[in-house]
Amino acid sequence: MSVRNCIVAQSGGPTAAINASLAGVIKGVSESGMYDTVYGSLNGITGILNQNLMNLSELMDGHPEYLDRLKVTPAMYLGSCRYKLPHYLDDDSSYVFLFKQFEQYHVEAFFYIGGNDSMDTVLKLSEYAKRIGSSVRIIGIPKTIDNDIWGTDVTFGFDSAVKVATETMDNIKTTASSHGRIFVVEVMGHKTGWVTLYSGIATGADIILIPEIPYDIKKITSYIEKSDKKYLVIAAAEGIVEKEFSSLKNKERRQLLSEKNLKSQVEKLALDIRTATDKEVRITIPGHTQRGGSPTARDRIVSMQTGTATALNIINKNYGVMAAVINGKIVKVPLKEVAGKLKVVPADAEIILQAKEMGICFGD
Ligand code: F6P
Repeated sequence: MSVRNCIVAQSGGPTAAINASLAGVIKGVSESGMYDTVYGSLNGITGILNQNLMNLSELMDGHPEYLDRLKVTPAMYLGSCRYKLPHYLDDDSSYVFLFKQFEQYHVEAFFYIGGNDSMDTVLKLSEYAKRIGSSVRIIGIPKTIDNDIWGTDVTFGFDSAVKVATETMDNIKTTASSHGRIFVVEVMGHKTGWVTLYSGIATGADIILIPEIPYDIKKITSYIEKSDKKYLVIAAAEGIVEKEFSSLKNKERRQLLSEKNLKSQVEKLALDIRTATDKEVRITIPGHTQRGGSPTARDRIVSMQTGTATALNIINKNYGVMAAVINGKIVKVPLKEVAGKLKVVPADAEIILQAKEMGICFGD
């Protein structure tokens, strides 16, 4: 009987529940009895390129408690990378080497846990495998705190990031209300505002600014002037855009900020509010803490579900798919429908209309 092995890797930014999905894959694959050895690629796909693999089966055999510990261990157990494979039509050298490694380690499946860029890599590898007639199966497991992967209602890590951002804004109110200050809290999310939107509503922010809705500073300052509150909390995504400059490219907008010695759009927002209203404005940035801490129960469940569902997809020979959550069910979504697409917050989303009815300002 020929040896049949598989490799699993993690990539992109971590989430609080990142290792629950790894545990799900290891458990699912081990219980399937389909593979002799599960290898872990250290630091994403670069682990295979640098021949840096660890034998997870050896580590786990006889130690079921290791999996329990792994599920709630923050920080990516296998390390990570932010390496995007070139398209094989432009440069196939990495692909040739990767598939040589698959052959050398008798690999029949490669599981990649990651965000948008990783799903793009999974699709490219799947297409390349088909092109060369390789039987190696490439499977994507969606992970990002940004919750911006197309084709799934939620990605694990999102709920835990919303928890951290919400608690940050809850806590900042102590100082804001004591001193009558305006606090701008910068929430993670360069391209999409899901974490900002949900945490802003959860904490009862007065103003919520997301990249998908370019803001008019005049609308914001007039909201502030009319407010009878002593203090205000503004939830602002990293990637917010001022309406006046929304037609510019990101690079041009960054150039404008650096000409004013400003490090971020949030800094410019705070400065513009201070200038227009003469109120005391402070900035709080929870930053990368939003990707850490103890995962919420919901994230642990989604993470385990997508991890084990992925293993089942392999057992049932469902290839070229991503395990996704749609209307509370774990389903298979073809990678072709997912890769390269961003799930942005629709400006007319019901939750935004409801928030506006609650009196929250979105700067538009
Ligand atoms: O993609 C997840 C994310 O946390 C974004 O929300 C954030 O802007 C980015 O990663 C930060 O990337 P890095 O870890 O490279 O600073």
